[in-house]
Amino acid sequence: MTDQEESTKSNKKSLKSLLPIFAFVLPYKKMLTGALMALLVTAAISLSLGQGVKLIIDDGFVAGSIEQLTNAIIVMVVLIALLAIGTFTRFYLMSWLGERVSADIRKRVFDQLVSLHPSYFEENRSGELMSRLTTDTTLLQSIIGSSFSMALRSALMLIGGLIMLLVTNFKLSLIVIGCVPIVLLPMMIFGKRVRSLSRKSQDSIADISTYAGEIIQNIKVVQSYTHESKEREAFSLEAENAFSVAKQRIKQRSILIAFAILLSYTAISVMLWIGGMDVLSGAITGGELAAFVFYAIMVAGSVATISEVYGELQRAAGSAERLLELMVVESEIKSPSDPVKLQNSSAAVIQFDNVSFNYPSRPNDAALQNINLTIKTGEVVALVGPSGAGKTTLFELLQRFYDPQKGHITFKDALITQLDPTVLRRQMGMVPQNPILFSADVWHNIRYGSPDADEVMVVNAAKRAHADDFVSALPDGYKSFLGEQGVRLSGGQKQRIALARAILKDPEVLLLDEATSALDAESEHHVQAALKELMSNRTTLIIAHRLSTVVHADRIVLMDKGEIVDIGNHQQLLEKSTLYQRLCELQFDHAEKSF
Ligand SMILES: Nc1ncnc2c1ncn2[C@@H]1O[C@H](COP(=O)(O)OP(=O)(O)O)[C@@H](O)[C@H]1O
Ligand SMILES: [Mg+2]
Repeated sequence: MTDQEESTKSNKKSLKSLLPIFAFVLPYKKMLTGALMALLVTAAISLSLGQGVKLIIDDGFVAGSIEQLTNAIIVMVVLIALLAIGTFTRFYLMSWLGERVSADIRKRVFDQLVSLHPSYFEENRSGELMSRLTTDTTLLQSIIGSSFSMALRSALMLIGGLIMLLVTNFKLSLIVIGCVPIVLLPMMIFGKRVRSLSRKSQDSIADISTYAGEIIQNIKVVQSYTHESKEREAFSLEAENAFSVAKQRIKQRSILIAFAILLSYTAISVMLWIGGMDVLSGAITGGELAAFVFYAIMVAGSVATISEVYGELQRAAGSAERLLELMVVESEIKSPSDPVKLQNSSAAVIQFDNVSFNYPSRPNDAALQNINLTIKTGEVVALVGPSGAGKTTLFELLQRFYDPQKGHITFKDALITQLDPTVLRRQMGMVPQNPILFSADVWHNIRYGSPDADEVMVVNAAKRAHADDFVSALPDGYKSFLGEQGVRLSGGQKQRIALARAILKDPEVLLLDEATSALDAESEHHVQAALKELMSNRTTLIIAHRLSTVVHADRIVLMDKGEIVDIGNHQQLLEKSTLYQRLCELQFDHAEKSF
């Protein structure tokens, strides 16, 4: 009992969560009013059709008058035409609203997603966020566009139908009203099973496609480890699983259909039997009986529709809840309400003051500890240290993707928390360790940070990044499509595109996370030349893995386990730091020889 109470309570609560969605419908008041008017008109016409049936039978057939039959048919046809126009209007307007509102919600959710702090995406799987953006909004679209109007229409028909039943014949109405639960109960039970199974079925199809998607994306790894037969087996298991769920569903559905036919037609027959006896005894006319059957079917149909739509509304309520949850997440990296303006006076561009930081997902591991570092305008500073030392993290804090737990960072005399993040980031050009390319052409990829740049500027930037040669040699030159994540380029080529992007942006401060693993000697030569060009007269922070880079730096910052352990030039560090000596021997060895 308490269980049941609880479940009805939670249902009520969850249907409530659909209410905020109406805020998205309200801007389209005219469409909504039009749709509701059409809904009322069509419901009224549908109800009056029953009277038309009565007229045809009583005045036409029974009275034996051709003239009256013709008149009654003309009235019917006019009503039917009006019904068609009304239904067109209702269907068009409601579907329009559904599509419009779901597009608005989709845009709002995406707008929200791109402004969220990066750590949000570490805590939430991208697949789930995508499904909110697509599946949940699609469900809401079908609710607003069809289920909602179906429920409303059925409610009107139910009330109107019941009234007409009682008006037409009171005794028969009581019998019908008594019969409705007997007919509908088993149908509702099976209907519920079918719905829950079809949801399961959809989920298992989703599992299948996720699985296939991953395999297809990583096909080279699969084939190189000759894992094809294993993957085939695993996939076949998933597919069979989906089939057996579907099998259960179709069984329940077949039973449902059989029951529906058996019960509803039997009920109609019983009604015809009882009513027919009344017609024979002269208590009612044949037309009355026909109209009565018409309304009874209408009422039963409405109840069936409402019970079906109710389940859908509950599902949509879940979707609405998830979407609204997403819409109210506040970015942890916010622009201050009154951001300060950047000054160009100071000699120091960047200053780290006692900065300590740990990633939100690792509260007990300090990624950076007590970092104190001042970087002067125009300086080239190399960050050196073993993998995991916190070099990349330093860059991320500087761009304010995260806020440190202790200490603060200033940029040109302003605390970076007091600057508008977009203003701050516009001053910086970042070339990440794994250059990120978008599945578009070369133009789009180089222009990414400076959308207004013209073609000459883009080609110049590409030339300075030593990218022009290979780009021009691509089948479509700068119009060449680079594939997802730029799969159609080699590592070194991708990096030079990323460099061209940074050159075109022409930032105050350059942040280079030097990737060397992807480079052969030839492209390394090109990248080095491009870097030198880029660093001249520009404040540069470069995470260096190569001696050739390090020797060009004004200062070298040696990091280990989240701390700065030494600062100096190459010669000084070689003399006093064993860690630096070791790094030079291990990491820079190969570079030194080729240098
Ligand atoms: N997004 C993240 N969430 C949690 N821990 C991270 C994340 N990124 C890096 N780390 C951890 O922070 C430490 C510093 O990483 P990082 O700055 O990338 O090192 P480096 O660039 O010097 O190799 C490492 O221990 C790493 O595992
Ligand atoms: Mg790194």
